[in-house]
Amino acid sequence: MTDQLSDQLGDQLSDQLSDQLGDGERQADAGSAARDDERPEPIHARFVDRVDASYPPVEEVMWPPVVIRAAEIKAQVERLASLPRPADGRRSAWIVHPLAEEPGLGLAPGIRVTLEVLLPGERTAPIRHNSSQVCFCIAGSGFAVVGGEKIAFDQYDVWHTPALTTYFHENDSSERQVRLTYSNAPLLEKIRVHFVDEHPPEEPAVRPEGSDEIDEHPVAHVFPLGERGAMLMSYERLINPEVVEQHPLHWPWREVKKELDQLSALGPSYRGRRLYLLYNPATGRTNGTSNNFFATITLRPPGIVDRPHRHASAAINYFFSGSGWSRVGGKRYEWSAGDLMLTAPGWMIHHHASNDQPVYELTIQDSPLHIAMDSLMWQEDLKRPYRLLGSQRGFATNRDSAL
Ligand SMILES: [Fe+2]
Repeated sequence: MTDQLSDQLGDQLSDQLSDQLGDGERQADAGSAARDDERPEPIHARFVDRVDASYPPVEEVMWPPVVIRAAEIKAQVERLASLPRPADGRRSAWIVHPLAEEPGLGLAPGIRVTLEVLLPGERTAPIRHNSSQVCFCIAGSGFAVVGGEKIAFDQYDVWHTPALTTYFHENDSSERQVRLTYSNAPLLEKIRVHFVDEHPPEEPAVRPEGSDEIDEHPVAHVFPLGERGAMLMSYERLINPEVVEQHPLHWPWREVKKELDQLSALGPSYRGRRLYLLYNPATGRTNGTSNNFFATITLRPPGIVDRPHRHASAAINYFFSGSGWSRVGGKRYEWSAGDLMLTAPGWMIHHHASNDQPVYELTIQDSPLHIAMDSLMWQEDLKRPYRLLGSQRGFATNRDSAL
C-alpha cells in the first residue's frame, strides 16, 4: 500500500471511528471531562476448566469433503444472470460448506469461494478490503482494474487482488463472464477485523516516494538479548516493519498451459505432481499466489493415480477438463469437468486419479498462511513421518530420473 493510500485509509478509519463514538467520547477526546467518569458495565471472562482435559482428535473436527456439481454451478449462474442488475453490479453468491457457521462463511473454514457473474457491458462498483483474493475466470472474458492496473483476462486465467487495493471488474465481451473468487475473508471475519470499504477513494495515479526514516534513525532498533538468539526490537521498528509491496499479478492460461503441457513428458514413474504453482514473489518463503493461498494448476495425464498423502492446509479443486475420482478419508468421490470440490479438509488422507482423458485442475490451498504460522504439517508418503514444511526440511521427488 502506498503512503498516500495509507494516509487516506488512516483518515478514513479515524472518521469512521469518530462517527461510531458517541458525543461523550468525542468530547473526552477533545479534552472535556464532561463524561470522563463514565464506566462500562462490568463483563467477566470465564474460566474453562482444563484439569485432566484432552483434545478431540483432529480427524473428528474436520469438515467432510463436498462436491459442487457443474450443473449446480450452472443453475446458480443462470439465477444470478436473470436478476435485475444490482446497484453495485455484483451478481455473486458465496459457495458455503453445510457445516460453516457465521461469522466467516466459507467452503473451507478459512477459504471463501464466491461465484461471480457479469453480463455483457456490465461493470462492478469499485471496492477494497483487507482480505486478499485469488481470482479465476471459468467462463467468458473481460478485464479487472486492480490498483489502477488493467488485467485483461480470458477463460482459466488467474490473477491476484492484494489487500486494500481498489478493484472492479468489467465485461467488455459479448458473452457472459463467470468467475470464482477465493478469499481469506472468513478468517478475518472470525477474528472480527474484516474491513470492507464499499466507497474507496480513487487510487493515486503516481505512487509517492516512500520514507526511509527508519534507516537513518540513531536508535539501535533490533539487538540481541543474551546469547541464545532472543532479541529486543524498538517500538519504532515495530510500527514500521519492512515493506514488501503487493502488486496485482496475472497468470494467463494460454501462457501457463504451454509450460504445463511440457510436464506431460514426465513418465509414469514420476512420483511428484505435474503442476505449477502460480507464484507471487512478494509472498517469499511462504510460496504463495496471495499471502494466504497458493494456486496451482495441475495436468493429470490419463490413468494417473496419486499416492495418498495429507497436509494441514485445506484444498479446493476446480476441475476444468476430463474426469476422475478422489479418495478422501477412505471414501471415494467421482468428479468431472466443471465440478468444484473441497478435496482436502486439512489433514485428511487423500489422493486423486484421472480417468481416460487428461485432467486440468486449479487447486487453492491455504498453505502460505500455514507456513507463516509454522503450522504446515505435511506427510507426502504415509509410510514416512510428516514434516513441518517451512521450518523443517521438506521432501524430494524422482524428477531427475523421470525426465
Ligand atoms: Fe493434497
